[in-house]
Amino acid sequence: MDQTELKRLVAQAALAYVEPGSVLGVGTGSTVDLFIDALAASGIALAGAVSSSERSSQRLAAAGIAVLDASSVERLGVYVDGADEIDPQGNMVKGGGAALTREKIVADLAERFVCIADESKCVDVLGAFPLPVEIIPMAAAQLSRRFAALGGTAQVRQGCVTDNGQHILDVRGLRITDPLAFEAEVSQWPGVVTVGVFARHRARVALIGTPQGVRTRL
Ligand code: 5RP
Repeated sequence: MDQTELKRLVAQAALAYVEPGSVLGVGTGSTVDLFIDALAASGIALAGAVSSSERSSQRLAAAGIAVLDASSVERLGVYVDGADEIDPQGNMVKGGGAALTREKIVADLAERFVCIADESKCVDVLGAFPLPVEIIPMAAAQLSRRFAALGGTAQVRQGCVTDNGQHILDVRGLRITDPLAFEAEVSQWPGVVTVGVFARHRARVALIGTPQGVRTRL
């Protein structure tokens, strides 16, 4: 099975977590694209979805699923999204698709984050994937110096403007051994909009695609 087939497998498996008639939180990325396709084909009727990106909103609308404003919802039962890395505790690195800020906002509304990922995303320690950080552009140099002090090398992602009109720094060379503390620290640096470590909003369920089938971690 190739990576896309593994993604399709977990996208399909995530349907078991969708509560019919509810409002669902929907993430962003190629795995989520496959999840939206599976959702559309499933015939499960939803009250609507809160989306984490323009990309997912368009795909949901094309599938006939009503896209609701995040401000119109107080709570979501479930948020389904992918990850760039996930550790055994469910801590994740996200933002490879530059949607991390809205992803964290929607995840914050949800009781349960259901992560869908192929097995290549599983790591023991976060940091091998360049850590995405959405930033206010004028802070780029200062933030790069701060990451350098932690052993990281930051680079502005060329040609990338987020859905929020901001920029992304990709930080290489980090080894994030305490994701919760790292997220708390970096989140308060002036100029950081969102850091792509999801520890406070870690996955409560992880559906991991392997050639042997879907491995479920709770
Ligand atoms: C987007 C994300 C995605 O969830 C992450 O990049 C995984 O993407 P894919 O499903 O394409 O592998 O965080 O900002």
